[in-house]
Amino acid sequence: RIYKRQLECRADIFRLDAPLIAIYESLIPTAEEKAKQKQLLTSLEKLVNREWPNTKLYIYGSCANSFGVSKSDIDICFALEGADNNKPEILLRLAEILESENLTNVQALVRARVPIVKLKDPDTEISCDICINNVLAVVNTKLLRDYARIDVRLRQLAFIVKHWAKSRGVNETYHGTLSSYAYVLMCIHFLQQRRPAILPCLQGMKTTYSVTMENVHCAFFDRVDELRNFGRRNNESISQLVWSFFNYWAYGHDYANSVISVRTGGILSKRAKDWTRRVGNDRHLICIEDPFETSHDLGRVVDKYSIKVLREEFERAAEVLQHDPNPCVKLFEPY
Ligand code: GTP
Ligand code: MG
Repeated sequence: RIYKRQLECRADIFRLDAPLIAIYESLIPTAEEKAKQKQLLTSLEKLVNREWPNTKLYIYGSCANSFGVSKSDIDICFALEGADNNKPEILLRLAEILESENLTNVQALVRARVPIVKLKDPDTEISCDICINNVLAVVNTKLLRDYARIDVRLRQLAFIVKHWAKSRGVNETYHGTLSSYAYVLMCIHFLQQRRPAILPCLQGMKTTYSVTMENVHCAFFDRVDELRNFGRRNNESISQLVWSFFNYWAYGHDYANSVISVRTGGILSKRAKDWTRRVGNDRHLICIEDPFETSHDLGRVVDKYSIKVLREEFERAAEVLQHDPNPCVKLFEPY
């Protein structure tokens, strides 16, 4: 593979600030939509409590991590002690209960990697996935939400990147491209690496929040209100950041040797993690360390075909931002 030299940013990049911010703002869910999600959660919790008293439902994923665009599905975690050995049975019973109420499209997917019940609320048209005891996801949702509160540029960048990925068909883990969760981690890592840094490394600071879940110790600094001014010495605007993000993944990242790590705030070597060869289905062609399950590479879904698709899309985005007369349309053109 021949690498192109990293480009100098085009001089009129700032003209993209206003349209990019407008796209970001158009994607933010309304207060009304957030209220409807809350209401649905409350009524689902009531239903669940009839069968399993005193249990709780937690929202995780994009509706709780502040990276959710309008009309996202809700990811819900049903916390139920002692359920780990009979999840299929419980999910089937849960599906039965939901079906007997006013909910549609109820489906129990008990064989999935993360078994879930899917449903749709016909009044609001909101779809939900309910899983059982996926508590690490609830904790990583909090980590992402806390990062988003430090500097608004993270939320802006991640919305644009997610919107790009969905438009270009590269946000489909079924087809070997990356999850939204992986893209948000790429954005956090990228902003940790700017000089001066725009985001700190919360897991490298004093512990103010800690829990142990599924034998994983999760600890980080969560008093993020104290970090509101963290990135102020860096005045890069959203257009510069979007341009640099795609340039980094197109021409700057060392795919052969590097692992990005939000946990350490830097780059680790594939060798140090023993991620240099294929083990089972994990090929490690693009390496993104999970901040808590550190043996977990979120790039594991990427195969030798989809890595090519992904890298060509990063290069396309970098080229569009550099040369296209109308980059804000072209960038998100359906594939
Ligand atoms: P959209 O639904 O696309 O808006 O984004 P999302 O943020 O809901 O992302 P996604 O559907 O990819 O994942 C939902 C949540 O599940 C994430 O926010 C994470 O908390 C969690 N999650 C997803 N993939 C993994 C994974 O591989 N490992 C772990 N531990 N958690 C994951
Ligand atoms: Mg989701």
